[in-house]
Amino acid sequence: MQALGQHLAARRLVPPLVGLVGDLALDQQLRELPALRFALERHTPRPCNPVARTRIASGAVQRQAEVYARGVAGTKPLIPTDPRRLEDAARARLTPEAYAYVAGGAGSETTIDANRAAFERQRIVPRVLRDVSARTTSVELFGRMLPAPILMAPVGVLELAHRDADLAVARATAALGVPMIFSNQASVPMETCAAAMGSSPRWFQLYWSKNNDLVASFVRRAEACGCDAIVVTLDTTMLGWRTRDLDLAYLPFLRGKGIAQYTSDPVFRAMLAGEPPAPAATVKRRVTLHSLSALLQMTRAYPGGFVANLRSKAPLGAVQHFVGTYSRTNLTWEDLRFLRERTKLKILLKGILHPDDARRAVDHGMDGVIVSNHGGRQIDGEIASLDALPAIVAEVQGRIPVLLDGGVRGGADVFKAVALGAHAVLVGRPYVYALALAGEDGIRELLRNFIAEFDLTLGLAGLRDPREITTEALAAARS
Ligand code: FNR
Repeated sequence: MQALGQHLAARRLVPPLVGLVGDLALDQQLRELPALRFALERHTPRPCNPVARTRIASGAVQRQAEVYARGVAGTKPLIPTDPRRLEDAARARLTPEAYAYVAGGAGSETTIDANRAAFERQRIVPRVLRDVSARTTSVELFGRMLPAPILMAPVGVLELAHRDADLAVARATAALGVPMIFSNQASVPMETCAAAMGSSPRWFQLYWSKNNDLVASFVRRAEACGCDAIVVTLDTTMLGWRTRDLDLAYLPFLRGKGIAQYTSDPVFRAMLAGEPPAPAATVKRRVTLHSLSALLQMTRAYPGGFVANLRSKAPLGAVQHFVGTYSRTNLTWEDLRFLRERTKLKILLKGILHPDDARRAVDHGMDGVIVSNHGGRQIDGEIASLDALPAIVAEVQGRIPVLLDGGVRGGADVFKAVALGAHAVLVGRPYVYALALAGEDGIRELLRNFIAEFDLTLGLAGLRDPREITTEALAAARS
């Protein structure tokens, strides 16, 4: 009876909605309603490439129509559209350790707050009576057309959120043509993700290891995986003072999580034959239930069979070698030459917050900078990335693209960052929460929501193309 009611309601709503629905990934249940199936079959356009499909599928009006049409059939969105409710829902799903690792920041977390406050201070000033009936959200970056000025930030240890981890991100981003940045601390090797992505854009993020052979190996693998760019993250040569993780005494890497790029690397595997570097702190070893459980986690995380790994020293050795080799604190501008000479891929520096450093990046032949404070995870009381953006854009003067991340929570934030001169933004925590709640489908939904809200903000502000967004569309709010 309920199904019949839903069917009739959908039948009445279909004619006005169908022109808006387009080629949407409607769930099977909805597609099977005869009225909607009939209408979709007759009216669905057939896109021929991912960008075109994204344009059709992600338009704000279509996305809204899809959500409301599904509601008629009794289906709610997979993930909350409000960013706070999204985080709350994910928190309820994650373990306390996983939530702390994802949500946490440095010290009293004022940098996380500052990132958001900077967005909130900027207010959009719309213009009216302009024809905004034809719009595009597409932008060009390094010769590729992207569906919107949005990329997926590199985020490590995604296995904390979902079993499919990076692979879910790879599949979801490839479905929309949104670039994914493989994290150096991924849970799934880059080759596995790349194999699931077809020709969809992907970049690789590098933490500069103490071992340059390992750095060169990561870069070679990124090239072989079809990456367009290497993102060198410079703000995490040491782990920030992350109070939530410290209070739980929890660091995922010590359980073998988030080191899949290492354990799948030939240079790293060869290192395992040698003695691991001396640890920074020696703690008297006691065998407890906790330490046994940590050992089992390392064994499970290590590639190969569980039983064989139980007998092997490799899982523990991999963690010890990773800790010993993770990152260099003595890295300088001169070291960038090593990378520049080794690869023709674009190189971007992530963690730039000072205009002088942005200028030096240009001088050192870098292809882009990412204005970022690592989502407030590194220094408490750090400048908000959005506040740092305008001076960097002014210094760079369009010579290389300037990207931004930190606190981007929806399409209106994308608009504000673009208005202040960002070529594109990286989305961080929100996609981890979407992953935790609904895996690959959750990320696809999140991205479509982001693009839809960006499209809507663009049109409602009186603009038709991201290239038309300038500071004129903004007014800084009076505090
Ligand atoms: C990160 N970030 C990050 N950055 C990076 O270069 N390599 C990495 O492996 C990680 N790992 C990582 C894990 C987690 C759980 C988070 C939340 C973040 C930083 C990330 O790329 C980005 O800079 C921030 O997430 C942006 O801030 P928001 O959007 O999360 O506020």
